[in-house]
Amino acid sequence: MRSLIDITDLNTDELDELIGSALDIIENPKKYAHVCDGLKLATMFFEPSTRTRMSFEAAMYELGGHVISTASADSSSAAKGESVADTAKTVSCYVDIIAMRHPKEGAALVASQNATVPVINAGDGGHSHPTQTLADLLTIYREKGRLSNMTVGLCGDLKFGRTVHSLINALSRYTGIRFVLISPDELKLPSYVKKDVLQKNHIPYVQTDNLEEALPDLDILYMTRVQRERFFNEEDYLRLKDSYILTPDKLTNARADMSILHPLPRVNEISVEIDKDPRACYFKQVLNGKYMRMALILRLLTEAGTL
Ligand code: NCD
Repeated sequence: MRSLIDITDLNTDELDELIGSALDIIENPKKYAHVCDGLKLATMFFEPSTRTRMSFEAAMYELGGHVISTASADSSSAAKGESVADTAKTVSCYVDIIAMRHPKEGAALVASQNATVPVINAGDGGHSHPTQTLADLLTIYREKGRLSNMTVGLCGDLKFGRTVHSLINALSRYTGIRFVLISPDELKLPSYVKKDVLQKNHIPYVQTDNLEEALPDLDILYMTRVQRERFFNEEDYLRLKDSYILTPDKLTNARADMSILHPLPRVNEISVEIDKDPRACYFKQVLNGKYMRMALILRLLTEAGTL
């Protein structure tokens, strides 16, 4: 049974095909309005979410399907001590596909090994978030017309930011990609991502703590929130939370065609005045996430033989 647990589960051709499929959904929504008639998606979110859960649900509805969900960890049997494996076996009896978010790294993998329907990882701890990457890739493609030959700045919490780990993994497959990793020393990209992805694939990158200096070079600036929920103590979070705040004056040194992305939610990282700037793409990214999740649901249901 094919699931999507990590972005490495999709090869580059498959990433390109999903983008193609999302573009077709955008052009021809009526063609897709009933393809999942009678089918069900379960959203099992054991961590807070607005966009990811609602975009999965909107995606399934727009395909003609239905959604059932657990409202939170507290209101499901996880609160009674049920294992992820047992929950996955149970929910498989009710639905055709599952989207799961969990605070523990590896939870979605365990769910996929026990479910009898495809499981989509909607974020597992600080590890990975492949469907956010699908949203990011479609956004970059729609803004730039390509996924190759660009300098991508990733700024903020590169240590705990799971969206960053998945995005680096995906973009590293395209030619001519260069990364500028902008973070405080304590929130640097984990060495396993540096070694296993960047160094292994000979991807050029630099590390800096200076956003202003890095800005003029960037085609893409990917801002991130400092991941409060992954910190061991509140003091460290409070000290680091406002490390980078993008304001209109800082943007004067950026390229006129630089695209600003952020997986959201934002706290203080991007001043709201920037929302009016044509370079701001983060709300387009939200919409693109829904289309890519539609494309993904279709693909996994087709491969499972359900469609
Ligand atoms: C991200 C996440 O959950 O990792 N949010 C999202 O899904 N769009 C980023 C974050 O929470 O900071």
